[in-house]
Amino acid sequence: MGGPAGGKKAAKRCTEAIRRERCERKHDRAQQSIDGGPDAKKMQRIPEPELMDDQDQAAAYAAADWSESHGKIPGYFRERFPDFAAGRVIDLGCGTADVTIRFAKAFPAVTILGVDGSDAMLAFGRSSVRDAGLESRITLEKRYLPDASLEKRNFDAVLCNSLLHHFADPGVFWRTAARCVKPGAPVMIIDLVRPPDHQTAVELVKEHAKGALPVLERDFIASLHAAYSLDEIRQQLISAAMPEFQVDQTDVLHLVAWGRALI
Ligand SMILES: C[S@@+](CC[C@H](N)C(=O)[O-])C[C@H]1O[C@@H](n2cnc3c(N)ncnc32)[C@H](O)[C@@H]1O
Repeated sequence: MGGPAGGKKAAKRCTEAIRRERCERKHDRAQQSIDGGPDAKKMQRIPEPELMDDQDQAAAYAAADWSESHGKIPGYFRERFPDFAAGRVIDLGCGTADVTIRFAKAFPAVTILGVDGSDAMLAFGRSSVRDAGLESRITLEKRYLPDASLEKRNFDAVLCNSLLHHFADPGVFWRTAARCVKPGAPVMIIDLVRPPDHQTAVELVKEHAKGALPVLERDFIASLHAAYSLDEIRQQLISAAMPEFQVDQTDVLHLVAWGRALI
């Protein structure tokens, strides 16, 4: 009998189909500009959607093995801030909490608030935090950034991987990062580096996303196109009045921008 439950299910299916179609269109547009745009060879920056709020996208991200890149992140932090050992850390754009968990394991005296605007990513994150037995030290909250309630200089460190290139306005990103933490606190931002051309991006994805689901390959290539160059980030830091921050390229794919929040 097709009572209210059946009607609700049909409506839900319909809403889901519309959402999925919108999301596919959004990604198709980005893909078209990547594949066929007249500037494809020049590798101009092509922004990608901010939130990773599609279920398939989140599932593909959660299923991927990030040990090669994420495994290095706690060490990058320790090298740059050898005195840091304890306190409240905020992980901006924590997604599925893979980095959050690695960081919590490497720094047993920290607690971490992970924030992300995507329910789909956070759902995977919560389940991983539970599986890791870290619920007493990691809290995940849905927050769409910028969020003024986080900009109260309450945290002892900022950690952030692979969020900057999603932000529509990088100035807003840097302001958010600087205002979350106490004066003088460590801030470490890791992101992708935009490759010189489309062909290099394709080769990097082939090499570093072997065996990944097609949706993850698509997102990876879109992220490489959306990423900034080191010089662009240095300019962003000057504009954000954070010129003392340093930017290091750590490998062929990644950079680390780091420094201490303004006193
Ligand atoms: C590439 S993922 C990185 C996730 C995680 N940091 C990691 O390294 O695995 C980028 C995340 O940033 C989130 N995001 C993008 N823009 C955001 C915004 N304005 N506010 C909150 N979250 C955002 C996306 O939803 C996504 O989960």
